[in-house]
Order: sequence, then structure tokens, then C-alpha cells
Amino acid sequence: MSSHPDTVVASAPGRVNLIGEHTDYNGGLALPMAIAQRVTVTLRPRRDRIVGVTSAAPGMSPAEFPVDSEPGQVDGWAVHVAGVFWALRTAGRVVPGADVEIKSDVPVGAGLSSSHALECALLVALDRQADLGLDRTDIARLAQRAENGYVGAPTGLMDQMAAMYGQEGCAILFDADQVSADPIPCDLPAAGLALLVVDTKAPHRHADGEYGARRHSCEAAARTLGVSSLRAVQADPVEGVLTQLEDEITQRRVRHVLTENNRVLDTVRLLRAGRIRDIGALLTASHVSLRDDYEVTVAQLDVAVDAALAAGALGARMTGGGFGGSIIALVDAERTAPVTDRIRAEFAARGFTAPQAFTAVPSAGAGVDQ
Ligand code: GLA
Repeated sequence: MSSHPDTVVASAPGRVNLIGEHTDYNGGLALPMAIAQRVTVTLRPRRDRIVGVTSAAPGMSPAEFPVDSEPGQVDGWAVHVAGVFWALRTAGRVVPGADVEIKSDVPVGAGLSSSHALECALLVALDRQADLGLDRTDIARLAQRAENGYVGAPTGLMDQMAAMYGQEGCAILFDADQVSADPIPCDLPAAGLALLVVDTKAPHRHADGEYGARRHSCEAAARTLGVSSLRAVQADPVEGVLTQLEDEITQRRVRHVLTENNRVLDTVRLLRAGRIRDIGALLTASHVSLRDDYEVTVAQLDVAVDAALAAGALGARMTGGGFGGSIIALVDAERTAPVTDRIRAEFAARGFTAPQAFTAVPSAGAGVDQ
């Protein structure tokens, strides 16, 4: 194995989404934040057009594949690495083979975007290594291209933008129509608050198919309404628009998207006014909409949200794509233990796998470490 002397180390964070769920692929608004947990990639170029990948994580055995692999040729966790090389190549960028070493403290399978963080970190490293001149949005889009075109997950751009534009102490207002990312100050400790993240450990069942189905029905609804995306429909209240849609399921899905965009705007207004405590009700309303209208929650997510609220959380909701994954709960800083305990007890009573909790700290986005 021959290798080039230059080694680049880069990292990118996982994310939680404060509010604005299933809006990004509808040209809408989301308010994610990068978290302190990161994926770190050490990149060593090779001369033999082969990519070798190793990970420190248990159960992730080493993989090797050609730089120019095609979708379907690589499976398992290394698909995210192969997808990045494919995305670059099909975008006309030439990079050499490489050895890629991965370390991560982003929980995997918790809906905290560990795979997008991996893709972004690798792209940052490759950009530096091969001097590609990519900006942060280019990198986010390439990571999305890898996910959509190689991995086969029809996701939006929110997670990658959060990983690339995260800032300490801030949530990031992502406008998918403008493809812009604006930091919104969210100083939780100054307000005596904490954002609790609880990984429910619920298995992700049918997540991709159900996600794609919702994406399709939103796109079909936009066509019926004669607009390019649901973002173009700005209505508050939204009920008048819904009567133009025939079936009841589509009406509910569209209602979720339209009301969720409005909730993001309301949340941003409150944060800008320094009223962090008051966003709690909006978080909970988002969960109810995702549960009843968009139908992307599972029992573990609903039980965790209800338990958090019963134990005094100011607001709580599922975060990410749903069908498993994590919830967030906005709590008074001294209430994190009772809220976590209550969720654990409710899970134990129902025979659910024990959940895992930590406190999210709005953190910096991706970058070169050395
Ligand atoms: C997943 C996707 C994102 C977004 C969310 C739902 O995290 O990767 O693009 O659609 O689901 O808001």
C-alpha cells in the first residue's frame, strides 16, 4: 500500500433539530443545532485508486473498495464513505484513493445524523487534501448527493447544513428555499435551561420507505396546488388551502408542513426576543402535529415526550426523521434528572429498551482539525 505523506484530520458534528421537521424537502424552514458529539476522519491519500476504511466503533469491520465504485457495489456502514467518493466523481471532482480512519462519539442509529456528520467530515478532509475549493454549502450538497444517489436515502439538506454551519451557542435557521443558514442565538445556560436529548433506542422500522412516501405525497400536493413546493404556500391559518386537496391523509400531511413552517418562524421570533422559555409550547405542538398529522412517531417517542412533559419539561418533541430515534425536551437545568428518571421509569414499565440521555450543547460546525 503506497501512501502520500499528507495527512488531514477533519471533523463534523451530529445535530438535533429544535423545530421544523419534514419541512426541508418541501423548501421549508428548520432550526437545527450542531451538538458537541463529532465524527473525526483521518485521511491519508493512496496512489492505488483504492479506498480503505477503518472505524474504532464496535461492529464496524474494515472495508476496501475502488475510488470509482458505483451505487450497489458497497454495503454496510462503509456505504457512506463510498458515496462521498461517488458524489465527488459524478460532480466532476477528481480525488485520489485514500485510507480513511473514523472515530466518533455521535450515537449511531439515534437519529442524530451520525452518517451525515461522517460524510461532511470526509468531504472537508478531501477538500483540504485535494484543494477542491468547496464552500460549506457545496460540501453540504455533495453529502446530500452521496446520501440520495449512492446510499439511496431520499433525505433533504437540513442535517448537512447543520453540520457545516453549526455555531457555538446558536441554533441555525435553515431556509431550504434560499439554501441559507443564519445563526439564531440560543443561550440555554444563561436562561437556566437545558436541552435534554433522549435516544429512545426504538428500532428504525420502514424509515426510508415511509419517509419517501411522505415526500411523494407532499410533492404531489404541491402539483395539485400549482406550486413548485409547499413552501410557496404561505397561509396562517392554513385550513383554506387544505380544502383544495382531495384526500384526508394528504390534507393532514400538508397541514403539518404548513403549520410547522409557521412554528419555526414563531420560535425564531421568541429566540430573537430572548424568550427561550416560551418556545416550549411550540416544541410540543410540533410533536403533536408529527404524531397526529404526519404520522411519523412510534410508541417510544410518544411515551418519552409525554413522560418528559409530565415531569415538568417546558416542551418536548421527537427530533429528526422519526420512526425511532431521539426526542428533545426543554427543561429547567435543575430538572434534567427527574425528567430523565421519569422517562426511564415509563420505558421500564412498558418493557421498552432502556433509553439513553444527554444534554445538547449548541456547538461549532465542521472543520479541519490538523
Ligand atoms: C431526516 C433527513 C432530513 C429531514 C429530517 C426530517 O433527518 O435527513 O433531511 O428531512 O429527517 O425533518
